[in-house]
Amino acid sequence: MGGFDFSKRDSFGSRMGVIMAAAGSAVGLGNIWRFPYILGENGGGAFLIIYLIIMFSIGIPVMMSELLIGRRAQRNPVGAFKVLAPGKQWYLVGMMGIISAFMILAFYTAVAGWTLEYIYQTLIGGFTAKSSADLATMFESFRSDSLRPALWFAVFMAATAGIVLGGVRKGIEKSTKIMMPLLFILLIVMCVKSLTLHGAGRGVEFLFRPDFSKITGTTVLMALGQVFFSLSIGMGTIITYGSYIQKDNNLAGTAVEVSLIDTFVAVLAGIAIFPAVFAFGISPESGESLTFIVLPGIFQQMTGGMVFAFMFFLLLALAALTSTISVLEVIVAYFSEQLGLTRRMAVLLATLSMFILGISASLSLGVMRNIRLFGLNIFDLFNNTTANILLPLGGLLIVLFLGWFFPSRDIRDELSNNGTLAVRYYSLYRFIIRFVAPIAITIVFLNGIGLLKI
Ligand code: PHE
Repeated sequence: MGGFDFSKRDSFGSRMGVIMAAAGSAVGLGNIWRFPYILGENGGGAFLIIYLIIMFSIGIPVMMSELLIGRRAQRNPVGAFKVLAPGKQWYLVGMMGIISAFMILAFYTAVAGWTLEYIYQTLIGGFTAKSSADLATMFESFRSDSLRPALWFAVFMAATAGIVLGGVRKGIEKSTKIMMPLLFILLIVMCVKSLTLHGAGRGVEFLFRPDFSKITGTTVLMALGQVFFSLSIGMGTIITYGSYIQKDNNLAGTAVEVSLIDTFVAVLAGIAIFPAVFAFGISPESGESLTFIVLPGIFQQMTGGMVFAFMFFLLLALAALTSTISVLEVIVAYFSEQLGLTRRMAVLLATLSMFILGISASLSLGVMRNIRLFGLNIFDLFNNTTANILLPLGGLLIVLFLGWFFPSRDIRDELSNNGTLAVRYYSLYRFIIRFVAPIAITIVFLNGIGLLKI
């Protein structure tokens, strides 16, 4: 087994490619499946405002920090900390990221697999003439089936592996440059359809008119967790992508653009969903089942509904795929650079271990539901531990590392491309990574592990 040849390291070919790949990672099930139901449960417009404030004040600086670490070190998350802090324990932050990547990929790809089942169902007319109770039963019995979810998981994982095998430029960059524009078109069509439904106005009002009486400590915490998950920050995905970015790229600009695209897509997903939900007289607070139970019910009653259902689930699948490739790339970069495996071997090993983990996560909603750790089945354990604990903790350690343990001069050099770009925002950025972000994230983290109840 030869070591990794760092002089032959792959990279993104263009600025556009960087934006599409990073936005592809950020835009995912988090925007279209998670954001709308969390917003629905947390008071609509008021949640949106808090979400935006946190996105700009903490989300963007953390994303900048990860891009910076990656590009400076030109390594996977573990290697990056070994290069930037030789002989120190910081590489453990990278290790934590690799573990998070395995866990996220397991439950996230399982949900992505459900979207394939739902594409299939729209094609065979599986929703036709089903009441909402029937649709709920259909979803539950599908999820707890022993074979189907595992099978769709395997299909989705294989597609993910196929792209990652192609490499950074020829696999990830090339495919996201096609999938992201397609995703946009589908989303815009869904928004137009939703907005033109009779009675859509109340949905728009719900989304944009803030009811501040709904804001509680929990709302703020939910918003912060959602920002982390949605931007793919706190676990090294952005460090990994950052490591493939050319030295002349303006990292702050990239972080802002990617975050804006991510936020825009989340808001568009809200516009595609809530007007329709209100037009059909359904409560916006239907929670997790919004996408897989409520929406199929709505599509069924719409003219041309099955076409829109097909488009919607295709949109979800595409959004998920541009995210799963970014998570798999973290593991593959680690396996090849730190353990010296070839890309082919690294993809194979990662995919095979994912089959075991992911299929267990899938089956844990059915036959394996009795296997529990801390009272949670495997799916919920992976889902909750990553979003509530590992991502915030990773994000916290990343800003602490840069803010307190890494030379300010080097940070400035990296952000300004060795003095060629103006970095007027620098003192604000530094203040955020030293104080604002660590304090805010600590509060969320303590809440996530139950040590602090707000
Ligand atoms: N950001 C992705 C989404 O919103 C999820 C994700 C989290 C991807 C962490 C990579 C890393 O769906």
